[in-house]
Amino acid sequence: VTLVGRDLISINDFSNEEIEAVLNLADEMSSALEKGKRLDLCQGKELYTIFYEPSTRTRSSFETAMHRLGGTVVSHAEAQVTSAVAKGESIADTIRVLERYADIIVMRHPLDGSTRLAAEHSSVPLISGGDGAHEHPTQTLLDLYTIRKEKGTIKSKSVALCGDLRHGRTVHSLAIGLARFGAEITCIAPLDFELPDHVRDTLKAYKCKLTEYESLEDIVAEGSLVLHQAETSSRRGDARLMGTGGQEGFISFLLDNLDVLYFTRLQRERLASGEIGNAAAESYRINRQLLKKSRDDALIMHPLPRTGELAYEVDQDKRAAYFRQAGYGVPVRMALIALVLGAVDPGISEGTKKKIAKPAKEVCSVRCVNRCCVTNTEHYAIAKFCQVHGKPKLLRCYYCDWLVQVG
Ligand code: NCD
Repeated sequence: VTLVGRDLISINDFSNEEIEAVLNLADEMSSALEKGKRLDLCQGKELYTIFYEPSTRTRSSFETAMHRLGGTVVSHAEAQVTSAVAKGESIADTIRVLERYADIIVMRHPLDGSTRLAAEHSSVPLISGGDGAHEHPTQTLLDLYTIRKEKGTIKSKSVALCGDLRHGRTVHSLAIGLARFGAEITCIAPLDFELPDHVRDTLKAYKCKLTEYESLEDIVAEGSLVLHQAETSSRRGDARLMGTGGQEGFISFLLDNLDVLYFTRLQRERLASGEIGNAAAESYRINRQLLKKSRDDALIMHPLPRTGELAYEVDQDKRAAYFRQAGYGVPVRMALIALVLGAVDPGISEGTKKKIAKPAKEVCSVRCVNRCCVTNTEHYAIAKFCQVHGKPKLLRCYYCDWLVQVG
């Protein structure tokens, strides 16, 4: 039984078979819930949620999930002010105490890599509810579940990721998950809000079909986006279309090919200057007009909360999947908790289990260049890197995944 006792910090901590085991069990959980069945799979087990950042869906759906499994919950919100970190306690010490109180911990924290550091100090499974701008793996589980449930499969689906792809952690985990399940990805982001290099590097390793566009100006008010192909795009073929059919023709062509449009808000809390943010936020939006040009069977997804990028008029459309998506968070997290606590056998045979090769870690004198990396704040955390390639020497931070060039 492979998932018992496991941490989930990055979506890459689970193999495709393990992710599928969670999604399959989520289907069973969902039908059990619909039939009003009582599930006492986790009776006597305790979930501790500790959140150092605001949350509506992640914390409450984890807690609802544990209640529905018959377990108990201790809920610690606003930990940045209500826990002993306010007195200077470290993440490591906090976790060393909480592991004595709980069978499983869910933690959200504003620093990249913080949940990985926490997991290293925990003897009980630690699940990330989001670490800074880095990853949000359980959101990805429910996003993949949504696509699979509503579109039948993930393989070969064409998915657009729109918005603040740099600071949005949900899209980092999701892009990697989509690539691993064979989806094609189109990124639409304002300049300076594109996918970070480390995510792009991971997608390349999975041979993902990736096209990137810049969204420009406030043309969205009239229901169309103006897109420019980004320099970084791995596919150049479509640029031709922009020349022949004009912007309008190109947008229609693009929308006609998209199975899923995944929107995200600008992560204002992670921006240094609000100014850049306002201009960028105006550059992408989904409204009724844009919806009119999208496919009849397209799915409009959003991790929520929304700000201006998702018009309320979209809510009435059957393609608007975001509230259903948030609802799936309960059966998916029930499945995850049950598997990690060993309450259900995932049925993954050793033969089919594909191990994800983890590059060797090396401790070196280099500091992580990401100022939001946990290793730059928690003084006892020793930076560790995995070598991406030798010449020039490129390292990947073990905690936050940022790439660091050496020498
Ligand atoms: C997201 C998050 O916290 O990263 N919310 C969520 O968990 N559904 C998205 C966001 O805050 O924009």
